[in-house]
Amino acid sequence: MDVQDCGLSKEDVLPDREQIAARLVELAAEIDQRYRGSNLLIVGVLGGAFVIMADLCRAITLPVEIDWLGTSSYGSGSKSSGIVQTTKELETNVTGRDVLLVDDILDTGLTISWLTRLMQSGGAKSVASCVLLRKPATSARRIEADFVGFDIPDVFAVGFGLDHAGKYRNLSCVARADKELARQGD
Ligand code: IMP
Ligand code: MG
Repeated sequence: MDVQDCGLSKEDVLPDREQIAARLVELAAEIDQRYRGSNLLIVGVLGGAFVIMADLCRAITLPVEIDWLGTSSYGSGSKSSGIVQTTKELETNVTGRDVLLVDDILDTGLTISWLTRLMQSGGAKSVASCVLLRKPATSARRIEADFVGFDIPDVFAVGFGLDHAGKYRNLSCVARADKELARQGD
């Protein structure tokens, strides 16, 4: 789906699909370099990470294992609820593993810091994180990501896996939806 298919416009596009594709190849090369010789477990954070995971993992040349964790902090609105809920448990035992968490976006860091502690309490040897997008840091941010695709402004973003109330995940680029959502009264 493109921006014009969902009421957004070309001016709303943040990174476009070509920029994202190129950046994910660069991030994969950084991950290859950092984890060469390691038995890496990549954990995709659902729902937002499914698109980035598909492209990032196929660009990685190491024989990694992949698992998924589900979290929800936004409910159906566009403001974080401040509480992370697990919607799907990990199936892999992380004890002694190098774990790389992959999420769509780093905002307050609540999700990544909570998941980092969860992996650490499970006995992971190391825990790092990779996000496609990063919003501007505030003093409230609890953790930084180790691998970052793009810095974006402090706007509500959708597409390439990011949703609003379950929609827009299949948009092929990342776009700001704050103006359109305000118009719709959210
Ligand atoms: P954090 O926990 O505040 O860092 O926010 C991270 C989580 O909130 C991500 O996993 C996203 O699911 C969601 N999120 C944060 N900002 C946005 C946004 O602009 N659009 C859609 N989802 C977002
Ligand atoms: Mg998420």
